[in-house]
Amino acid sequence: MSSHDHTTETADRSDVLIVGAGLAGLFIALKLSPRPVTVLASQSIGNGASSSWAQGGMAVAVQPGDTADAHAADTIAAGAGIVDAKIAHMLAEEGPARVQDLLELGVPFDTDESGALKAGLEAAHSAKRIIHVKGDQVGHAIMEALIAQVRATPSIRVVENMTAYELALAGKRVSGVYACSSAGGGASTLFPAGATILATGGVGGLYKVTTNPPSNRGQGFAMAARAGAILADPEFVQFHPTAIAADIDPAPLLTEALRGDGAHLVNADGHRFMPAIHPQAELAPRDVVARAIAGEIRAGRVPHLDVRPLGLDKAGVGAAFPTLMHNCEKLGIDPAVDPIPVAPAVHYHMGGIAVDGVGRTSLDGLWACGEVASTGAHGANRLASNSLLEAVVFGARIADDLRDRILPEPHSICAARLPVPTGGSHAEEGLAQLRELVALEAGVVRDEAGLVRLLDALTALQHDGQLAHALPNSLLAARIIAAAALARAESRGGHFREDFPVADDALAHRSFFTLSEIEAMIATRTHVVSLSAVAKEAVS
Ligand code: SIN
Repeated sequence: MSSHDHTTETADRSDVLIVGAGLAGLFIALKLSPRPVTVLASQSIGNGASSSWAQGGMAVAVQPGDTADAHAADTIAAGAGIVDAKIAHMLAEEGPARVQDLLELGVPFDTDESGALKAGLEAAHSAKRIIHVKGDQVGHAIMEALIAQVRATPSIRVVENMTAYELALAGKRVSGVYACSSAGGGASTLFPAGATILATGGVGGLYKVTTNPPSNRGQGFAMAARAGAILADPEFVQFHPTAIAADIDPAPLLTEALRGDGAHLVNADGHRFMPAIHPQAELAPRDVVARAIAGEIRAGRVPHLDVRPLGLDKAGVGAAFPTLMHNCEKLGIDPAVDPIPVAPAVHYHMGGIAVDGVGRTSLDGLWACGEVASTGAHGANRLASNSLLEAVVFGARIADDLRDRILPEPHSICAARLPVPTGGSHAEEGLAQLRELVALEAGVVRDEAGLVRLLDALTALQHDGQLAHALPNSLLAARIIAAAALARAESRGGHFREDFPVADDALAHRSFFTLSEIEAMIATRTHVVSLSAVAKEAVS
């Protein structure tokens, strides 16, 4: 390390720098080997990554009778009219080869007596195609296998406990990141790189109730926005219908595989409410189920997930769903006997940094993968268990795109524009306030008045110099989501506007914005989805 100026150190140059150590980041690092890469992890490797917490599984058409076309068709149908069909087909077609990669990396997917992959059902899938590890432990098992491989791969350098807060630019080219100790404060470190890949995860931590690691607050998304990247579909945030309603942060997830296996949603008097709402009842698309549950809660009824239709005793539930049992036991609930109280929780961001079919963003030198990217595969509502799949399909494509690419030496890098973010009790209080506000006004049900209130409140928080300094990326990510939600004057998938409760055919397209377009929209309160053809073309 050498000294750059009074407050900035410069780390050794990386050929390829991957920011984020979840499934997307580690898979790319392994796929690129032996090309040298640096992985920047905000915690110790594997911690703080949503991937490690994934329960449902990975969707892939491997069962006899199932096809990639059927998988793509379900993905397109769930996405409520705005999925990029080409990308959906690509995911479904390339999925089986990526599962083979994971098997070769040591992921112990569940198999039957004949050694074939076992697959279960989840909402809005027309076939059993969700592959698991030990019931609900897929994320943990995948990450354990990948971490072991990463540790044994000499071409991968891992730097832990460092959080990137700003993209480093050389002219217009992204040439690394500025990062600081995840403990907050201290010096800024410039990590110069020939290519930079953001794999920083989603935005769940911007909301008070989330199934994600709360530290995932849209940092990569905001960093790319500030550098001028084109963003896509920020308004589409997915609420998982069934987190345990127990006022725990983060909210424990009840995997959708439970409903796939026959669990029912009931209200306090044991009445199933989903059959009256959708022909697929508990297996309706996730946004439909989440709104139904939110409606029950608003009507003062407490919705519950009843696992008893699975016909399992306590030991059986524990064997089939160990994570569920662990979470229920901590709360004194016996799921074999008692229905579990549930509420929706923020689970996934369909929006993100716009990328093309090989994960390239609109900025030179910058790729994005995993939840921080918006590929167009998920449209307005992601099909269950397509997120791990997307991370590995695009991870492999990014590795192919970079494998033999000659990367420029980073030089003439501009100084960081932001001061090093600092923590402290004021920042913590500000963050709690932010999470409360975003959950209240940009939740399952939104309207113009609430979103305008949210934007005004976020502007006020940004004017608090200490908070702006401590939480620049969280504040910006929340602002972009609120503005995009205000701009989309219709309801579609995960974005439901009480003041515009039906889908508008004229708006059946993705939204693409740059930060300056967002700021112009906020300034003029233009309630129109941007059709920025220039922006769209740049990433297609
Ligand atoms: C779940 O287990 O219900 C989550 C699966 C997913 O988010 O795809």
